[in-house]
Parts: sequence; structure tokens; C-alpha cells
Amino acid sequence: MNDTIRPGEAITDLPEHYDASVYFIGHIRTPFIERSQCPRQGDREAGPECRIEVDPRWQQALTGIARYSELQILYWMNFSRRDLLIQAARSREATIGTFAIRSPARPNPIASSIVKLVRVEETALIVRGLDCLDKTPLIDIKPNYDAPRAERESA
Ligand SMILES: C[S@@+](CC[C@H](N)C(=O)[O-])C[C@H]1O[C@@H](n2cnc3c(N)ncnc32)[C@H](O)[C@@H]1O
Repeated sequence: MNDTIRPGEAITDLPEHYDASVYFIGHIRTPFIERSQCPRQGDREAGPECRIEVDPRWQQALTGIARYSELQILYWMNFSRRDLLIQAARSREATIGTFAIRSPARPNPIASSIVKLVRVEETALIVRGLDCLDKTPLIDIKPNYDAPRAERESA
């Protein structure tokens, strides 16, 4: 957990209770061990192959996924602080509000990327386009309907 506050940043008190809970449906295996190795945004053409490992409990829910060339992946930025209102990004001179940037530090640290689906291996999806640390928890997978269908035999 990164709990450092930079000059100009502002925080709030977090609510006492959660309003909902999530199931982690798997984990994402990436070559990125430290944050400094992660890209700011994944590259679905030139990024490295990453492996989305879905818990076998949810295997049937992958039925039909191979027909899509791109997926939207939702994941949980488990090392982020959740109380930042104003953030000072290293890449930016001025501070900015949490809801005006795609920083992983947010009240609900949900990240989203559109990835290229390279292939399906039983309960794993091999993709390009992720920007998260190795073993980041997976919370959802959705097809990107805007992309052309994949030309694959098994759908
Ligand atoms: C700027 S976020 C973008 C995430 C997603 N593509 C989005 O736009 O919602 C990506 C950065 O989050 C950080 N990060 C990656 N995995 C993380 C994790 N498990 N917990 C906290 N921060 C993480 C890394 O610094 C990475 O460069």
C-alpha cells in the first residue's frame, strides 16, 4: 500500500462501512513486478503477452469468449490508497481531482483496459494490453463489441 502524500495532495476520511462486496474471479499474471515497470496504459499491439487466470469455478462463464478479438478487463488495484481527492501526478505540473484522471488511487480502485485476446487456454486468457502488477486481482471480463469479431475456429 502506498500511503505517501505528495505536496498539494488532499485526502478525505473514508466511510465507516462498505456498501457492497466483490468476488475476485481470478488473477492477472504479468511481467511487471514493480510499479516502475508497469506502463501508464497497456498497449494492445506492442505490449507483452499477459495471462488472465480465471478461477476454475467460473470456467463455464468463458463459453463463447474466443469469438471476440478484444475484451474489456476490470481489475482491482490492490496496492492503491483510497482516500485521495486531489492528486499530484509525477508526470503533471498541476494537481488534479481523482475523478479527472485514470490513476489507480481512487475510492474503489477499479482499473479497466481494452486488451487484445491472443488465445484461450482452458481457464486462462492470453492477452496484450495490460498495465498492472503481477498477481493483480481480476474482477470482470466483458467483450468489446466495438472491435471486429475474431477469426478463430473455436468460439
Ligand atoms: C494509470 S493506471 C491505469 C489502469 C487502467 N488502464 C485504467 O485506465 O483504468 C496503471 C498504473 O497503475 C499502477 N498499478 C499497477 N498495478 C497496480 C496494483 N495492483 N495496485 C496499485 N497500483 C497498480 C502502475 O503504476 C500502473 O502504471
